[in-house]
Amino acid sequence: MVTTHFPEGIVADDARWLFDGADLAALAKEFDTPLYVMSEALIRQRCAELRSAFLARYPGTRAYYASKAFQTLDMLRIIKDEGLGVDVVSGGELYAALKAGIPASEIIFHGNAKTDEEISYAVQSGVGRLVVDNLEEIYRIEREAAHAGIAQTILFRVTPGVDSHTHRFISTGSLDSKFGIPLEASETARYVAALRECPHVEFAGLHFHVGSQLMENSSHLAALRIVLDFAARLVREFGLAVKELDMGGGFGIRYLPEDNAPALSDFVDPMIALVREWSEREKLPLPACAIEPGRWIVGEAGLTLYRIVAVKEIPGVRAYVAVDGGMGDNIRPALYEAKYHAAIVGRADAGLGAASNQLRRVTIAGRYCESGDILIRDIDLPDPRPGDILAVFSTGAYCYAMASNYNRAPRPALVMVKKGKARLSVRRETYDDVIHREK
Ligand code: LLP
Repeated sequence: MVTTHFPEGIVADDARWLFDGADLAALAKEFDTPLYVMSEALIRQRCAELRSAFLARYPGTRAYYASKAFQTLDMLRIIKDEGLGVDVVSGGELYAALKAGIPASEIIFHGNAKTDEEISYAVQSGVGRLVVDNLEEIYRIEREAAHAGIAQTILFRVTPGVDSHTHRFISTGSLDSKFGIPLEASETARYVAALRECPHVEFAGLHFHVGSQLMENSSHLAALRIVLDFAARLVREFGLAVKELDMGGGFGIRYLPEDNAPALSDFVDPMIALVREWSEREKLPLPACAIEPGRWIVGEAGLTLYRIVAVKEIPGVRAYVAVDGGMGDNIRPALYEAKYHAAIVGRADAGLGAASNQLRRVTIAGRYCESGDILIRDIDLPDPRPGDILAVFSTGAYCYAMASNYNRAPRPALVMVKKGKARLSVRRETYDDVIHREK
């Protein structure tokens, strides 16, 4: 999406900063900090774009929200209402999706190490697709499906061997990856043989996912070419038709004002064009294409509010601004060197129009007992002071979802805002919650 204004959804009206109409300072006061704030309007805006740029534009396609990016019951209900399917990667995510009323048939279940319990739960629940990641899994699904007396639809997750230009921890499509089936001929023969031995396993097609937060479409297209070649081989050599083609997620978003995130159509238009060309060239029916965006739907729809606790100047070195959260609510800077943008609520900053001579270069430190707990290194802010509310933008994906209780910090509350109204989606943890499971 080529947006000119960043962050989207913020309206700064003198001292009042509104996000999806809700006053951020008032939210911090009412719900305390750290606080995750998600905008329902921005989430739904992405869902609408997903429909117009992909689902409606290319009939017969499907979209699954990769719920690992941000899963709460509230969020799942929005996804249900938007009519999207859901990608889950664990029994826990499946449980929540079913609880939220997502039809099992609209759920796709992934994982490179699904337990017997998870396979059984998924098959018994009637999930629409199970994505096979290793040979043995075919037999394990067969046992469960035979037991349940059904045929389970599956896809093969394949490894296209394409290196994506993203952090190596979130790159998944390269050959040396724990995810997916290698496209070696010898391996393929074994997988096809297994399918033949498993009458309750119904092969529908292929899945691939090249990596996450990709800011250009080249890795997707390179991977797609390889997977399409493989699909043609499956038909020619084994008579196995690829009726479905799930092209994963990974569509990048804007974290910094200078980021130039492509539009969804920059990814999907050339991908669909490639599939169509392939189908004409190979004289094979067009497979039903699917995508699985996670971050792209929720990333820019969320921000985190912190309270500045301390400002410490190390003369000649740097100034640290310490906040009341950090790696426990956002592990991404520590884990992936992820970069974020922030501003002090109610005070104009560089991104929202302040004169540059009022700015001070600082580093935002988290509260956790670890030197690596730095949220933002070197950002220009207008004279940050203890008590100020700091908003860190684009925290809607993989922050709440990856939160921990490190240092026994209770995890923050999460509010969903919609046209100026806030509803508590997840209450803040208490100290009792933190020790709750202990004997
Ligand atoms: N489909 C599959 C099979 C995936 O493995 C993933 C992400 C997605 C879809 C969704 O990708 P997205 O559209 O959100 O990029 N924790 C990391 C990201 C890990 C992504 C894992 N798989 C982060 O915070 O950047």
